[in-house]
Amino acid sequence: MIGRWMPRLRQPEREGVPWGQACGFMCGIVGYAGREQAVPVLLDGLRRLEYRGYDSAGTAVCNGAGIQVRKGGGRLERLESLVREQPTPGHTGIGHTRWATHGPPSDDNAHPHLDCTGRVAVVHNGIIENYMALREELAARGHRFRSETDTEVLPHLIEELYRGDLLEAVRQAVRRLRGSWAIAVLHASEPDRVVVARKDSPMVVGIAEGANLVASDIPALLPYTRFVYVLDDHELASVTAGGVTIEDEAGRPVGKAPLFVDWDAAAAEKAGYAHFMLKEIHEQPRAVRDTLAGKLDMDAGRVVLAGAAFSAEEARSLRKIDVLGMGTARHAGLVGKPVLERFTRVPVEVDLAAEFRYRDPLVDEGTLAVVISQSGETADTLAAMREARARGARIVGITNVMGSSLAREAGRVIYTLAGPEVAVASTKAYVTQLVAQYLLAAHLGQERETLSRDEVGRWVEQLARLPGLVEDALVLEDDMRDLAEGLAACEHTFFIGRGLDWATALEGALKLKEISYIHAEAYAAGELKHGTLALITEGTPVVALATQRSLIDKVLSNIKEVKARGARVLALAAPQAREVAEAADTTIWLPDAPDLLMPVLAAVPLQLLAYYTACLRGCDVDKPRNLAKSVTVE
Ligand code: M6R
Repeated sequence: MIGRWMPRLRQPEREGVPWGQACGFMCGIVGYAGREQAVPVLLDGLRRLEYRGYDSAGTAVCNGAGIQVRKGGGRLERLESLVREQPTPGHTGIGHTRWATHGPPSDDNAHPHLDCTGRVAVVHNGIIENYMALREELAARGHRFRSETDTEVLPHLIEELYRGDLLEAVRQAVRRLRGSWAIAVLHASEPDRVVVARKDSPMVVGIAEGANLVASDIPALLPYTRFVYVLDDHELASVTAGGVTIEDEAGRPVGKAPLFVDWDAAAAEKAGYAHFMLKEIHEQPRAVRDTLAGKLDMDAGRVVLAGAAFSAEEARSLRKIDVLGMGTARHAGLVGKPVLERFTRVPVEVDLAAEFRYRDPLVDEGTLAVVISQSGETADTLAAMREARARGARIVGITNVMGSSLAREAGRVIYTLAGPEVAVASTKAYVTQLVAQYLLAAHLGQERETLSRDEVGRWVEQLARLPGLVEDALVLEDDMRDLAEGLAACEHTFFIGRGLDWATALEGALKLKEISYIHAEAYAAGELKHGTLALITEGTPVVALATQRSLIDKVLSNIKEVKARGARVLALAAPQAREVAEAADTTIWLPDAPDLLMPVLAAVPLQLLAYYTACLRGCDVDKPRNLAKSVTVE
């Protein structure tokens, strides 16, 4: 089927080898045990992780006198000046760059975190889902917390569990955790040792001459070694200058052969992927999982939105919802609109923030403004939020950046825990913006009782399955790479769909145009006859979305309409839409899911199609011409 889509251009080159499935991590970890001073090695490692983005940084160094920590919000230069002003000599240490997920970027929230005695230091990547319960339990036993982070429960747990063997204490501590972690731990009583552990967040141990190192990302290790042990989930390692031992959580030794890393530094930054965009596309299962983490109460069948909760009374008082954003964020809002309307029975408008702010919008105290921005710094989006607030609206921000202007000003915030998005083209942020709206819509519906308990419960179960479905959608990568060959020579394309598929079409077209520079237009399929059909000629590529079961017949007739004018049709369809295969030139079957979740699953192959098309055209995928990641001017 694939070959019929369009003639092949040339064989695509497969660049890079993905590094396992270990993606989606938010922060950077470096650790050193050796004969040199630890701090210069730690700072050098952290500098090599800078490309991933961060909002605070810190180091802890062990020497005979105890543990000394230097840390703070902001750039690495700040940490460098802190250690210059107050040096921390010692040969064993850990370092961290943080991308805030629990608690805004600040000196207190920066890692490493200490226990009550200052003898245990911990850095952590990932999310400890049961940290609230652990924190309450530890506080009740007298532990004092200094930060708002989930991580800080760890040093306190280890403090309680330590009986002279740090590896054993860490092993017992991680058994108490739910969620994901890569951790590196120091104890003042064992000044030559770094202990690390992982689950669902990467951790590698590097073997060097006279020293051993640990890191969350291979680039931090490359100047020192190319031989690494890659820890698997539920493994721990004890690292000293003299050796490395690896065990599982039951204390059994793990035999592992070191791997040789032959990537150059640039390939290593991208975890072996050819571009950040491809890496970020592959991070989506984890990004979705993290965004859902802690928000689905599976036992009660409810959605829990800690930072953006509405009481029943407040939810019932809403008379209108305005969703505001720019670019991809607005496209996410267009998916959110029918979901919010269906679950809350409140009318929803979606606006370009840049238009909203100047159009004297009808907003009052009964309005909820849902403001979406990956960066949280888009000038038009912030201005629209301020305009809505000035007119009395309540605000919920959806953003990927803790401490951003949107996060600080919105009041209520749902964080998309996608981790830093480096590529200009938004992928994992978009998909998690959809997830955030699914959560918000269900929460409001549950509080307004426009959704029954059973309906909320079923939705919670369906959302819990979403990360696995996104993984299934990634399996379409090879197909999309092949199909890109048929698209790369074209200058014009059309994306069509109905209902939620129209919103998906808009995002699919934006992805293609911004990175491949192919002219791509998205249309609500029912609109074709009202003008656009005139542009369909022999060979025109049309990408048709057919994921909404109730609209299959309608979109089928639109596919036939463009086929009759000579279009080449690539359909992305729900598995039930078998008739589509008869009409389209090529049909790609998406994983089976409820209609409302299909935009997430359709986004993945569309991102891959845009990506491979842009590669074939030799475009600068991660930094498309004329575009910036964050648009902080009007
Ligand atoms: O940071 P924001 O989400 O506010 O950015 C809004 C748009 O500039 C952004 O979504 C843009 O359209 C994407 N980078 C396109 O992929």
